Amino acid sequence: MKAIVCTKYGPPDVLELKEVEKPTPKEDEALVRVHAASLNAADFEMLRGTWSARFGGLLKPRHTILGSDIAGRIEAVGRNVKQFHPGDGIWGDLSECGFGAFAEYVCVPENAVRLKPTSMTFEEAAAVPSAGVVALQNLRGVGSSSLSFLLSDKGHIQSGQKVLIHGAGGGVGTFAVQIAKAFGAEVTGVDSTRKLDMLRSIGADHVIDYTQEDFTKSGQRYDLILDVVASQSIFDYKRALNPKGIYVMVGGSLADWE
Ligand SMILES: NC(=O)c1ccc[n+]([C@@H]2O[C@H](COP(=O)([O-])OP(=O)(O)OC[C@H]3O[C@@H](n4cnc5c(N)ncnc54)[C@H](OP(=O)(O)O)[C@@H]3O)[C@@H](O)[C@H]2O)c1
Repeated sequence: MKAIVCTKYGPPDVLELKEVEKPTPKEDEALVRVHAASLNAADFEMLRGTWSARFGGLLKPRHTILGSDIAGRIEAVGRNVKQFHPGDGIWGDLSECGFGAFAEYVCVPENAVRLKPTSMTFEEAAAVPSAGVVALQNLRGVGSSSLSFLLSDKGHIQSGQKVLIHGAGGGVGTFAVQIAKAFGAEVTGVDSTRKLDMLRSIGADHVIDYTQEDFTKSGQRYDLILDVVASQSIFDYKRALNPKGIYVMVGGSLADWE
């Protein structure tokens, strides 16, 4: 099968389209023919070997075929796999089970994927798993990756709250804007100039161009800030929060966070 293989950190010139052996599923795995895979900022961080990516491989990538978010069809199943059959359309996030989405086939444990809704195309489904789940979990306050302050025991987001998404135009942010609107929040999206119209089109009530304005200095206060860029000091974010407001950091680099 063909796969995009990465044996050293980069870029440039570290991705090779190669012929590799087609995997065979173990007893508790399914073999998936990959129809679509999405690219997230996290994939690029793994390619570059940022400090968090190097926990898994100090000098070279631990996983030579990257890619976490897939949609595809089950081609074969191991004898212990109960919930899937050849031909089933599935989607899922492989970041907890060895990655491997950037290939024609990948073997996955049964619990890493779910049946894909038939109303979604493979391309639509592959765009959802990690970015959508991270946005949903962290707005609801049930995520494991969030660093949050003054947590409410009802979860974070409540109808009528003023919610600001910092980095709203990217993978996580575009899901977060739409999910926050669905929860009934008044949503402000912060991103660069070229993304502001798109943010309005997906429901943002207010938009701020970070290249022109620092939202932490506007005097506006928010009940919840979901931050996917972590570009400012924690004291700046605190200034933009209401007294019982919540700050949730889901991305960016700790190195940038003072
Ligand atoms: N996607 C996932 O599944 C996932 C899961 C867990 C954690 N994360 C983490 O979350 C972070 C973001 O992921 P992502 O996939 O959403 O990335 P992304 O698609 O690159 O989105 C980041 C967005 O932030 C904007 N931005 C950059 N600097 C900004 C600033 N100073 N103020 C406001 N907006 C700014 C970018 O716009 P420009 O084009 O102007 O730069 C871009 O639209 C990463 O650190 C990633 O590791 C992502």
